Amino acid sequence: GRLAAELVASRVLDVPDFPKPGILFKDLMPLFADGPVFRQVIDQIVAHHGAQRFDVVAGVEARGFVVAAAIAYATGTGVVPVRKAGKLPRRALSATYALEYGEATLEVHEDAFIAGQRVLVVDDVLATGGTAAAALDLVEQAGGTVAGFTVLLELGFLDGRQRLAPRTVHAVLTV
Ligand code: PRP
Ligand code: MG
Repeated sequence: GRLAAELVASRVLDVPDFPKPGILFKDLMPLFADGPVFRQVIDQIVAHHGAQRFDVVAGVEARGFVVAAAIAYATGTGVVPVRKAGKLPRRALSATYALEYGEATLEVHEDAFIAGQRVLVVDDVLATGGTAAAALDLVEQAGGTVAGFTVLLELGFLDGRQRLAPRTVHAVLTV
């Protein structure tokens, strides 16, 4: 809803030239740090997905973990961490992708999902969509089904959601 969008707008800090010159970093840590605002935004996401069924939430390291755990707790589902390369202790699947700044590899345990499990993929920001597309690839490699994507903030001009079509993306705020 509009209120949640305004709350996100009021709690995002634009940091120029981080982590590289020319990149405008969207810092949502002020939102995470504000209890009532964080709760209201998570509640709006949960209400939005009311009709949409999912069995588990996949959170993308690192900032996606914060949002994913809150949604999972509020909906009584679990969290599957999608991690940066080299962090998982057991056999993992991997997907390499181009980021707005550089390249990265994400991994998920090969037994992270039950076959056909419906997975809500969660992150803080959708920019180019490279991260979300890699998470989608991993969920499907691991036998899950992506039920949809949710982010707090979408940079609409980068058109990341087009890379995820025909799956739906819910963004609390699109700029
Ligand atoms: C940021 C952000 C998203 C991703 C969005 O993460 O948290 O995960 O970039 O960009 P994209 O849509 O262009 O892929 P980052 O890789 O900076 O790492 P962090 O979450 O660990 O801070
Ligand atoms: Mg991230």
